[in-house]
Amino acid sequence: MAGAHQSELSMLWIKALHIIFMVTWFAGLFYLPRLFVYHADCHDEPGHRRFLIMERKLYAIMTLGGALAVFFGLWLLRWHWPLTETWLQIKLLLVVALIGYHFWCRRLVRQFARGKNRHSGIFYRWFNEFPALVLVAVVLLAVLRPGG
Ligand code: HEM
Repeated sequence: MAGAHQSELSMLWIKALHIIFMVTWFAGLFYLPRLFVYHADCHDEPGHRRFLIMERKLYAIMTLGGALAVFFGLWLLRWHWPLTETWLQIKLLLVVALIGYHFWCRRLVRQFARGKNRHSGIFYRWFNEFPALVLVAVVLLAVLRPGG
């Protein structure tokens, strides 16, 4: 009995850490594209240099949050093996898309740094919507667990 209780308690600790770092990750996923919106419309050198510093530092923090959210998420899979639950299969597909978006942000940070940004502020406003849609879908899947 004590073993099962211990396992449940450690799963809850891991899930709490999973959610904490997921929030950190999303803070960056929401704010970095917003910086891209303003940076794309910025035409003065001091402003350009300031955005580069903010984007580089925010990307580093967001990557740490994302890596830890994924690490604790993968650890939680231990209690869901084999992965037969439909909600979890769909969730993992959405998370793979989110990781792809994360690395697209890295490419954009580097394009701005090389002065090679090709997109308008309007493009980045639409680009900024994607993480919000994924967040709503993933949290509803993880909490409501449709299809079991
Ligand atoms: C590779 C990445 C991820 C994996 C492997 C993963 C895996 C999991 C697993 C297995 C659970 C269920 C834990 C339990 O047994 O109760 C869980 C819970 C949860 N996950 Fe993730 N997750 C990942 C990424 C994310 C992301 C990106 C989000 C947010 C958008 C997220 C939000 C949540 C939430 C809110 C819960 C708690 C649901 C509840 O207990 O009601 N996860 N995750």
